[in-house]
Amino acid sequence: MKKEELYSGKAKTIYRTEDPDKLISVFRNSLTAFDGKKKSEAEKKGYFNAQISRKLFEMLEEEGIPTHYLGMEADNEMLVRAVEIIPIEVIPRNIAAGSITRKYPIEEGTVFKTPVLVMDYKSDEHGDPMMNEDIAVAMGIATYEEVAQIREMALKINEILKNYLDEKGFLLPDFKLEFGRVDGKIVVADEISCDTCRLWDKSTGQSMDKDIFRFDKGDLSKAYEEVAKRIVPEIFE
Ligand code: TMP
Ligand code: ASP
Repeated sequence: MKKEELYSGKAKTIYRTEDPDKLISVFRNSLTAFDGKKKSEAEKKGYFNAQISRKLFEMLEEEGIPTHYLGMEADNEMLVRAVEIIPIEVIPRNIAAGSITRKYPIEEGTVFKTPVLVMDYKSDEHGDPMMNEDIAVAMGIATYEEVAQIREMALKINEILKNYLDEKGFLLPDFKLEFGRVDGKIVVADEISCDTCRLWDKSTGQSMDKDIFRFDKGDLSKAYEEVAKRIVPEIFE
């Protein structure tokens, strides 16, 4: 049962529960991009993202990757372990798109022979600047061992997700992970959804993710529904 609100982000609101070790994450329909400068709402977005995230967390757990996922409380409400979030956005990249093509002379669509792992400091105020292990240690937000472990986990997750999504007819150019600490362990936190991944339809090359909203490329709810149909077909039965 939800108790008081702990924190409200741009797409999710986190509530306390009776158990201090457990929180409820409510996936909302609100959409933001460009550090919150562009805002909107999309019908059923919270529901589709919560269900997609649930499925991907369950799959990672089966593959031996610990996550904060505990179960579902409602269609768009996830029960999660309370973790101490490490404020680093960890982004595995397989195909060049988005910021890497703006910051470096790398053409969109370039397929990387080995995944490129980018880390950004999670701070809209600072414009999510580049992060590395030395900066993380200097800022006191993670140890060298933790950053090394995060990198290793992220690359493993990338392989698992890329193969899984390939079977569902998607390319995975890139996606963003967040990690948290709990009981001295690093676990995957936050969400893995159409808001935090780039997903391109394998046959048409169309974006089926938040780029639709960022760059006004069409009907976001319809695309998220199509992703949900392939990843969580059971919710349409
Ligand atoms: P980028 O190309 O804008 O750096 O984004 C890389 C990936 O990370 C993309 O799949 C979207 C995701 N992402 C987030 O989930 N949250 C963010 O705040 C940013 C900047 C990117
Ligand atoms: N800047 C990110 C984006 O373009 C996320 C955000 O600000 O909400 O999606």
